[in-house]
Amino acid sequence: MENCSLPQDALFLGFDCSTQSLKATVLDANLKIYATAVVNFDSELPHYKTKDGVYRDLLVNGRIVSPTLMWVEALDLIIQRLEMSKLDFGKIIAVSGSAQQHGSVYWKRGSSVVLASLDSKKALVEQLGDAFSVKESPIWMDCSTTEQCRAIEEAVGGALELSKLTGSCAHERYAGPQIRKVFETQPEVYKNTERISLVSSFMASLLIGGHACIDHTDGAGMNLMDIKLRAWSKKALEATAPDLEEKLGNLAPAHAVAGLISNYYVERYHFKSTCLVVEWSGDNPNSLAGLTLNAPGDLAISLGTSDTVFGISNDHKPSLQGHIFPDPVDAEDYMVMLVYKNGSLTREDIRNRCANKSWEVFNTYLQQTPPLNGGKLGFYYKEHEILPPLPVGEHRYVLENFENDSLCGLRERTVNEFDAPSEVRAIIEGQLLSMRAHAEKIGMPSPPRRIIATGGASSNKCILSLMASIFGCNIYTVQRPGLLMVGCATRGELSCLSNACTWTNWSKHL
Ligand code: XUL
Repeated sequence: MENCSLPQDALFLGFDCSTQSLKATVLDANLKIYATAVVNFDSELPHYKTKDGVYRDLLVNGRIVSPTLMWVEALDLIIQRLEMSKLDFGKIIAVSGSAQQHGSVYWKRGSSVVLASLDSKKALVEQLGDAFSVKESPIWMDCSTTEQCRAIEEAVGGALELSKLTGSCAHERYAGPQIRKVFETQPEVYKNTERISLVSSFMASLLIGGHACIDHTDGAGMNLMDIKLRAWSKKALEATAPDLEEKLGNLAPAHAVAGLISNYYVERYHFKSTCLVVEWSGDNPNSLAGLTLNAPGDLAISLGTSDTVFGISNDHKPSLQGHIFPDPVDAEDYMVMLVYKNGSLTREDIRNRCANKSWEVFNTYLQQTPPLNGGKLGFYYKEHEILPPLPVGEHRYVLENFENDSLCGLRERTVNEFDAPSEVRAIIEGQLLSMRAHAEKIGMPSPPRRIIATGGASSNKCILSLMASIFGCNIYTVQRPGLLMVGCATRGELSCLSNACTWTNWSKHL
């Protein structure tokens, strides 16, 4: 490895705290995967009774939360798994992580004292059971704060004004509207909250035994940070809730060191006391960093629990649909992103209903059906969608060519269902067409120079083939697991490690 003064046997530990699981990846100094472990929330921590890692509240419309303690318990469990694989924790020089964006954690008054005096003989979950003023963290899938969003926008002078100031107009899942909801509906709980973390800074807090800073990039997903100054915006804070600044603590760059690892891990798992904890950041910023995306003509599409489309830009152009975050690697640039809530779980739903629960059958249907599906268009929202903001539902249209019609010759007819193969093509084409249309609308490159596809469904060549046709450019995939980890390493000033990504040009094979 060149230009790096790391010990040859140094190891780097990274976590990915996503909606459905906590994963750990240990990389060696050559960026090779040394060990991995995973804890699936539903199946391995069944006592929390989550489905897909979350609770969907049937009583409060749009409320989707995760039990905060489940993440705490998962952390001890995953480190124990690594311990069982005989990992020498003493060789780990730095730890960092990636987390689902926007989820907020509410620490009770006095929690910093508990965090600072963790007893290594007891599990974290035993000691932090009473550390949270809100026991169920609202997460990125939550859409119960529409009222708060409108109120915040109004208070700062409108949706576009908020987007200019913070990088996004108000979004239900963002931490600011969620905090305002806690303040409005449970003022005593709000008062009794000492610190508010994002999932990323919360996990870093567990590792340093103190409240970690929120990093600039994930912090931009709150509707609270001045995107240009990378500091809390007084105007946005005032529009959200009183005395908020003290509850949020300081912001830090995504590559900053949060602190040394807490004694808890030194005594319990034999980490070195000099092991650094680098600030955690959000999953999408970490993907951007891991992909080493550095040209404004490049686009990345991540197909996961959520689908995201992102790229970099030198310019901050406020919009009502996309999100702008500071680039987690280059302080001068911005990350531009579109987010869809109906990603892999919605694709799986159609696979289960129309393709015998089999990806093989799903792919055969994709290959059997013609491009543009003979005019059959479908949009499927198993969850309340973010883009466009539409409720749960399915919308199917057949485009018909009326030769004598003056309206460009095309008319649409609403139908209730398609045949199974058309249903399968309709969901994939509908998702990709929407991405292309919205990407163009917010000024992302069109057509892009190239697309780098990532996330679970990027291993599906039939989906990549449709992506290439719809976007009209080459599609690349990253042939290495632990992409988010490379992102963490890149942020953690170990950027020389990130060159190990090998890109495969899929379009060549399509
Ligand atoms: C991004 C978003 C999702 C989550 C998924 O704005 O809401 O992509 O980060 O973990």
